[in-house]
Formats: sequence, structure tokens, C-alpha cells
Amino acid sequence: VLRDTEGREYLDGLAGLWLANSGYSREEIARAAYEQMKTLSYYTLFWGWSNPPAIRLAARLAELAPPGLNRVFFTSGGSEANETSIKIARLFWEGMGRPEKDLVVTFQQAYHGVSYGAMTATGLETVWRGFSPFSEGFVRVPPPYGYRCPHGKDACDASCADALAEAFEAIGPQRVAAFLAEPIMGVGGVIVPPPGYFQRVREICGQYEVLWIADEVITGFGRTGTWFGVEHWGAIPDLISFAKGVTSGYAPLGGTLVHDRVYEGLKRVENVFNHGFTYTGHPVSCAVGLKNLEIMEREKLPERAAGLGKTLEARLRAIDSPHVGEVRGMGLLWGVELVADRATRALPDPVTIGWDVQARCRQRGVLVRGLFPGNIVALAPPLVVTEAQLDRIVSVLADSIAEAFRQAKPA
Ligand SMILES: Cc1ncc(COP(=O)(O)O)c(C=O)c1O
Repeated sequence: VLRDTEGREYLDGLAGLWLANSGYSREEIARAAYEQMKTLSYYTLFWGWSNPPAIRLAARLAELAPPGLNRVFFTSGGSEANETSIKIARLFWEGMGRPEKDLVVTFQQAYHGVSYGAMTATGLETVWRGFSPFSEGFVRVPPPYGYRCPHGKDACDASCADALAEAFEAIGPQRVAAFLAEPIMGVGGVIVPPPGYFQRVREICGQYEVLWIADEVITGFGRTGTWFGVEHWGAIPDLISFAKGVTSGYAPLGGTLVHDRVYEGLKRVENVFNHGFTYTGHPVSCAVGLKNLEIMEREKLPERAAGLGKTLEARLRAIDSPHVGEVRGMGLLWGVELVADRATRALPDPVTIGWDVQARCRQRGVLVRGLFPGNIVALAPPLVVTEAQLDRIVSVLADSIAEAFRQAKPA
């Protein structure tokens, strides 16, 4: 429960900004930060330096990550993590003597951040408007959005992964450095790919010699019921961008996990990896991250997300409204797509009714988020949420949807 300056209380259905996985105001984490500030508040990671919390956290992340992802580069957040992943992918091909492999393929509707590379990788127009010129070297392809299939399929046959192979062929695979995608697209509409999708992506990326970067900024650290989202598909990426849940938001931190075979390729580059931020490996953020992960493991929060996810799914599916078109998600990451009519899947009028639902939920003391283009409502509560709190979130959501449609003023 959060309280504003007027003393109003809110039940947080979005974990701040999809990140307060272990919940708010934990004494233990505050103490870890305090102790670290007293010991070593800061020192740079340039010129070969490191610090004990950064070393220990890197080792812990390598243990938690899918096999082979054993190297870590720390950043301050998710946008920087994606910049880092993209730069590593391009440098890898430079090291392999194939510098012409420099394009990055991403999804329309994806969200990867707001710095120039991450913004250009992002497929949401609203994120770029007014900021041109953009970075070069990005190509966007349709996402695996089963409810409004960009490939025109009535029944999902997961052939969208093959469309990725076709896209690589059309671009020329000799030019493609990396494919960057969220395992479940968050800001772009909580889009869950079909079963088998990322296994096929893994095969295709292998076949075309393209590095697969999983943007796990939202899906990492238990959010979907496993430590990392890609585990649901049993497929191992070459690079993973992470942030948010690694510290549950107690301190800013992100980074890139690098597979051993990519690391080996980087060693062939003549220069050192000339990249790093002032706060790379910040000792306080890393100490906070270590404590946060310790709590998540001790309290089995990923398993808890998996279990409570079933409850949340059942509650959402039980919302009795002709305007709930689709309910989709995994663990404690869910999206509710609102429609004018369930049979035709026609967009509601106005399409931004999700923002209205967000505002009505807030008036009732529940925080959720309307997503682009405006008719999708996201839920991602802290993984410590209780069943009773989930009931309240869904009941307020259902009332707010009904009221928003009753009072809608078509555009
Ligand atoms: C999937 C994804 N990638 C990257 C980012 C950017 O992270 P940050 O805001 O920490 O730069 C976000 C932020 O919401 C995100 O959801």
C-alpha cells in the first residue's frame, strides 16, 4: 500500500513501474545500502577496478541466468542496458571480422527505452515523435501479436517465427547483427508469443548467424513466475538486458548478461570494450541488488508469482464484460485488451479508454496502467501481493471498465 501527500492510500497494481518485485520499504535492504555506503560509497570500474558487491552480484546473476550467460556488464538502468547489448553485438561481429553485420532487428510496438539507440529500437511512435534524426541501423518487423495477428492468421499457428526468418532473408542476413526483443512485450501491450516461439527464434538466429538479445528489463527476476522470462520457452539468448527487478527499485541498476561464446568473440577485438558509465557497478546499487535477490530467493517470490498468477488470471477471466476482448499474461504480468465488441474485436471508441480506466482505478485507490494505443490495461503487482489484494485490484478494475464504457464519449 502506498500513501500520497494527502494521506490517500493506493494498492499498487503495477509495482511502481513494473519493478517493486520484493515490495516496498524493506528494512533489510535499507540496511544493506547503509552498510555499503559506510564501507565504500563509490569507486569507478574503469582501469581494471572493481568492488566486492559488483563481483558478488555478477557471480549471483550468472548462477540465476540460463546456462552459458556468465559475464555481466553493469549499467544504471534499462535503456543503458539495451545500448550496451547493442554495442556488444556490433563489436562481436567486428571481432569476428564481419563489421558489415551491423543492423539490429526489433519489433514494431516494442519498448526498449528512451536514449537514442534504445529509442530507435523502440517500435512505438509516441516514443520518437519530435526527436528526429534517429540512430541508424534498425529494422522493425511485426510482433507475434496473436489477438490481432499481423500475418492475418485467424488461428495462431506460431508461424510468426518463420516470418522472422523471411525478414532476415529480405534484409540480407549478412547485414544483421542482432535480433532484440522482449520475451513478453510490456509497454507495447503485454504481448505473449505463442508456445514454441522462442525455441524457433533460437534456431533461426543460429541458422542466420544473428545474435539474439532478450530484453528482460520487465520480465526478469520472477515477474513471469521464473527468474527469467525466456525460461518459459526453454531457449537461451546470446545476451540479456536486465534492470528494474534486479533491485526491485531500491536503487538504480541494470546491465547486460553475456553468453560465453559472445565473450570469446569480444576477446578478438583489438581495443578493450571502450564503454562504461560513471555508475557502472555502483557498489551501493550492487549491495542492494544482492540483498534483494537474497530475499526473493528466500521467500520464493518467482514461485509465488507463478502460483498467484493463476489466481489473477482466473479473476481477470471472470470479469463479466462484453468489453474485455482478451486477457493475456504470465505469472504476475497481465494485460486486459478492451474492445467495442468481443465478437468483432473492434477497437473501442475512444481507443484511449484504457487511460480513462487507469484514472478511474486511481480514484478508487488502485494503481494500474493504460498502454498504447490506449485500449490495453496492464497489471504487474509486487510479487508479495496477497490474494485478497488481487481480488480488490480486479474488482476495482471491473467496476472502472464498466463505468468507463457507460460514460464513454466517442471521439
Ligand atoms: C522492456 C524494457 N526495456 C527497457 C526499458 C528502459 O528502462 P529504463 O527506463 O530503466 O531506462 C524499459 C522501461 O520500462 C522496458 O520496459
